[in-house]
Amino acid sequence: MQRHLITAAIPYINGIKHLGNLVGSQLPADLYARYQRARGNEVLFLCATDEHGTPAELAAAKAGKPVAEYCAEMHTIQAEIAKGFRLSFDHFGRSSSPQNHALTQHFAGRLADEGLIREVVEKQVYSNADGRFLPDRYIEGTCPNCGYDKARGDQCENCTKQLDPTDLIEPRSAVSGSTDLEVRETKHLYLRQSALKDDLDAWIDSKTDWPILTTSIAKKWLHDGDGLQDRGITRDLDWGIPVRRGDAEWPGMEGKVFYVWFDAPIEYIACASEWADAQGHTDWERWWRTDKGAEDVRYTQFMGKDNVPFHTLSFPATILGSAEPWKMVDHLKSFNYLNYEGGQFSTSQGRGVFMDQALALLPADYWRWWLLSNCPETSDTEFTWELFQQGVNKDLADVLGNFASRVTKFCRSKFGETVPDGGTFGPQEEELITNLDTRIAKYSEMMDAMEVRKSAQELRAIWVAGNEYLQAAAPWATIKEDEAKAAMQIRLGLNLIALYAVLSAPFIPDAATRMQDAMQPGDTDWPTSARAALTQLPEGHAFTVPDNLFAKVTDDQREEWTAQFSGVRE
Ligand code: MF3
Ligand code: ZN
Repeated sequence: MQRHLITAAIPYINGIKHLGNLVGSQLPADLYARYQRARGNEVLFLCATDEHGTPAELAAAKAGKPVAEYCAEMHTIQAEIAKGFRLSFDHFGRSSSPQNHALTQHFAGRLADEGLIREVVEKQVYSNADGRFLPDRYIEGTCPNCGYDKARGDQCENCTKQLDPTDLIEPRSAVSGSTDLEVRETKHLYLRQSALKDDLDAWIDSKTDWPILTTSIAKKWLHDGDGLQDRGITRDLDWGIPVRRGDAEWPGMEGKVFYVWFDAPIEYIACASEWADAQGHTDWERWWRTDKGAEDVRYTQFMGKDNVPFHTLSFPATILGSAEPWKMVDHLKSFNYLNYEGGQFSTSQGRGVFMDQALALLPADYWRWWLLSNCPETSDTEFTWELFQQGVNKDLADVLGNFASRVTKFCRSKFGETVPDGGTFGPQEEELITNLDTRIAKYSEMMDAMEVRKSAQELRAIWVAGNEYLQAAAPWATIKEDEAKAAMQIRLGLNLIALYAVLSAPFIPDAATRMQDAMQPGDTDWPTSARAALTQLPEGHAFTVPDNLFAKVTDDQREEWTAQFSGVRE
């Protein structure tokens, strides 16, 4: 049995996420977690809300609430929506947890002990109009790298370059729009990432199986221009984790907090400790400490491409720099962007479909299937209502749903609601078995490799194979000449539904449960042989006809939703 630690990039607390966020990390992570569990492996799947920094402050201010209260409420909302999408986190934590406070302060202390922190008297942008220091994100301007005019002080959304606010051309306050900014002095802690450059370089070189998208981004930031810069890890903000050196005060740093990008990835670790606390045990270090049992853990992270530098450089720098035996990521799966009807999904601009809105329209499986089978894996992809309607109707309603319905209803009307006996497999069935053995092997291989779209293709092909078999075998015609043969064909069909339930569960867990409830198979293990899987329901075994698994998206619905989501959300 393997042990898989799986994390999805922790979503900002500042509002409900859109479908582009979902498909860029949490959903494929869930697919992988469900698959690994189905293979009988031990899985710890963690996610959390990313609650510090200026996004949280800004959103709370907009909602007119104290930031702690806002975060607590929004965490509950995000947790509920995650459940609605059937995201099977073992724990959905909070970066503001006491566990993360302690661990973040611990890491800072370790880094200081290792000589990797320097104190810097910095010049920072102060806004006279707003009467405060402006954190990076509160400053907008033109990116010096690509010329994008809405780049933020921490990162350019357009070219992914990590920035310092003073890099921006024509900076302005994002709070008030004021350009009456001045530079003042303030003391901050810097992590000496440059001292870790060779270690990071060697570590990335050892990751020969990483996708090109990941390593190329990491290498680019390691080697382009001045290479890896030392990075400020503290901020002049109220909300956040107070700067301490482990358990001790940090003289001169009173009233300051750690930078959100310093504490957020540490929450991946703290979340395991939150999980253990919630479970009433203390046994979490076996997932995270290589000196305490984690050396055989395979750790996979899922994230959007804009997050790659933080996961390949910043967070590993924290861990390597601590000189403690924390588990490092083994595989990092990153995604491009999903666009919405010819533009970008955007939280700040309220453009696109948000997770709560999606669930109000259709059950989770529809979204899961479409988003995963069209996920932006090798390039950006596009959500349109038309493509969504086509994909859902064709794959889910016409192929899978139709198959389950035809087989069970035909059986009920001709043989009753038990698996009929008689007949033996002939050439058509043997051909199907051979085909399925190949495809199931390929599907499993693609799922192991986290090739999400290829996995979806294989699963779809497995559904199609059943439909084509049914069409060719035509039990409704066979029964007129040879009742035993028709019984055998239908028996195979019923077994296929049970097989589909197992194979489809990582993608469409609710429909899978309904197929399983209808078929009541004794064995729901991942199939190793199509023949065994297709003969597992014994003759005489009772089943029920499931309600329609999937309704089609109608043209009226498509038009209505296109109009409904053409504007922006407040
Ligand atoms: N909140 C960030 C985002 O949504 C992701 C943080 S991932 C972590 O882009 F590594 F910092 F945890
Ligand atoms: Zn840029």
